[in-house]
Amino acid sequence: MNDITLKIPNHVAIIVDGNGRWAKEKGKTRSEGHYAGFNNIKPLSDYIFSKGIKVLSLYLFSTENFKREKKEVDYLMNLIAKDIKGFTKDFNKNNIKVVVSGRMSAPLPDKCIKSLNYMMEETKNNTSGIINLCINYGGHAEIIDASKKIASDINSGVISADDIDEEVFNKYLCNDLPPVDLLIRTSGEQRVSGFLLWQLSYAEFYFPKTYFPDFDSKCFDEALIEYTKRDRRFGGINYNEKSN
Ligand code: IPE
Ligand code: IPE
Ligand code: MG
Repeated sequence: MNDITLKIPNHVAIIVDGNGRWAKEKGKTRSEGHYAGFNNIKPLSDYIFSKGIKVLSLYLFSTENFKREKKEVDYLMNLIAKDIKGFTKDFNKNNIKVVVSGRMSAPLPDKCIKSLNYMMEETKNNTSGIINLCINYGGHAEIIDASKKIASDINSGVISADDIDEEVFNKYLCNDLPPVDLLIRTSGEQRVSGFLLWQLSYAEFYFPKTYFPDFDSKCFDEALIEYTKRDRRFGGINYNEKSN
């Protein structure tokens, strides 16, 4: 593919998966797997933005992940509160704005809410790209919360039911983001687990076997090559292609 120009998606979304299996294969604890996964976020996101991608969504903790053992949840919450916050400087250096999707309320601990608010405040004027951190996030929760806000705005006369179209609905979601072009789920699992259900409607799906802690710039290049080969139609027909 060296002689072919790569297509660069506008919005890439990654389901960060396989931290536990990565650790198990190495005889390490699940916590060590999460630590390795979180350490991969900064170099990988730097690389992704360097390729010209404008929006990167990362699924880091689902509403359902609170079902896990307290020890694992506590470890992940500490990573979110402390380590993730440490990325702020780097995002500022690269002019990347941080936004968060997910319910910023209990059971998400206050220390996480504070850190995430800090990151958003510190980076709010950055203009080169957006990193959307999906934490305490669920696609059903997002659509339900948007529907409630719409119902409340209709009740109070801010909008009328006739005003609602796709563009307006998008504005009621956690963030008014463009549609996802490329979804990557690491670790070989082939499901969306509630991720960005509205935004994924015409995304290309890519399921590499690599566990997230090992998903590096080379793996991302392979994803871009695969994306470049896809024929995106959006319900139409590509009339430039020969048909029989
Ligand atoms: C992804 O790794 C991180 C989170 C979901 C928080 P997992 O913890 O799901 O790893 P596996 O699926 O057990 O390997
Ligand atoms: C999805 O991964 C959630 C995140 C990556 C944050 P899971 O590992 O929790 O998903 P399932 O349970 O395998 O579907
Ligand atoms: Mg998993």
